[in-house]
Amino acid sequence: MIKKINETVNYLKSQGIEKPEIGIVLGTGLGDLINHIEIIKTIAYSSIPNFPVTTVGFHQGKLIYGTIADKTILVMQGRFHYYEGYSFQEITFPIRVMKLLGINYLLLSNAAGGINLDFKKGDLIAIDDHINLLPGNPLMGKNLDDLGDRFPDMSAPYSYMMCDLFQQACQYFGVPFKKGVYVAVSGPQLETRAEYTFLKIIGADMVGMSTVPEVIVSSHMKLPCFAVSVITDECDPKNLKPVNISEIIEVAGKSDKLLTKIFCEMIEKLDVS
Ligand code: HPA
Repeated sequence: MIKKINETVNYLKSQGIEKPEIGIVLGTGLGDLINHIEIIKTIAYSSIPNFPVTTVGFHQGKLIYGTIADKTILVMQGRFHYYEGYSFQEITFPIRVMKLLGINYLLLSNAAGGINLDFKKGDLIAIDDHINLLPGNPLMGKNLDDLGDRFPDMSAPYSYMMCDLFQQACQYFGVPFKKGVYVAVSGPQLETRAEYTFLKIIGADMVGMSTVPEVIVSSHMKLPCFAVSVITDECDPKNLKPVNISEIIEVAGKSDKLLTKIFCEMIEKLDVS
């Protein structure tokens, strides 16, 4: 595994991706940030050695290297999900690679269902903590001792400092600051009414099918990370409306520009020295 990670790191360095300072993963329906990057290099996932091979016929995944506010950033446009058939090690491989390329911080975004009914469609919610209901995790198997401990601490997987920056950016743009607990499920189906009731009872505020594996490897590598959910559907078991993926993408798209502004503000404020 380490050998593969280093191979990929060396390939990306040979392509001019020399010293990214901040890694970013853009979730479903969230791509506007790309328009604000001074792009240095774009590479399709399909041409990166050891990157997960797509199991579906199409794949638009791209790695974009460039600058925002004079900081070098490496953006994953599109991530890998468990429901697509990838292993948890494959899903988190790019995060390992970004860390070894030298990133100091990781920013993640996703589309999620709102279980907390105070959250409305389009809201941006900082993830404060999570519950992993995925059927496994990326740290299973032999520990990568060079990258982190066998039993990583998870008392604060989301950086308080980065969450403060998010809060300040929300204030700056005049949007309410909200935070919550994200539960990761396998999908690809959405949840039943009984499942939403269950998720609420166990303490979740929002639900989605990603992010947690990436955050677990960030904790393993002591990489400070921040994650935000865009609420794309309201999961009220007493009043559940059918949703479909095109609606989810459409709702995420409406909040995309605000998320870009907030991420740009956070990037500007992050101290990468
Ligand atoms: N459930 C799971 N994942 C999701 C949802 C949801 O309601 N909305 C967006 N991603």
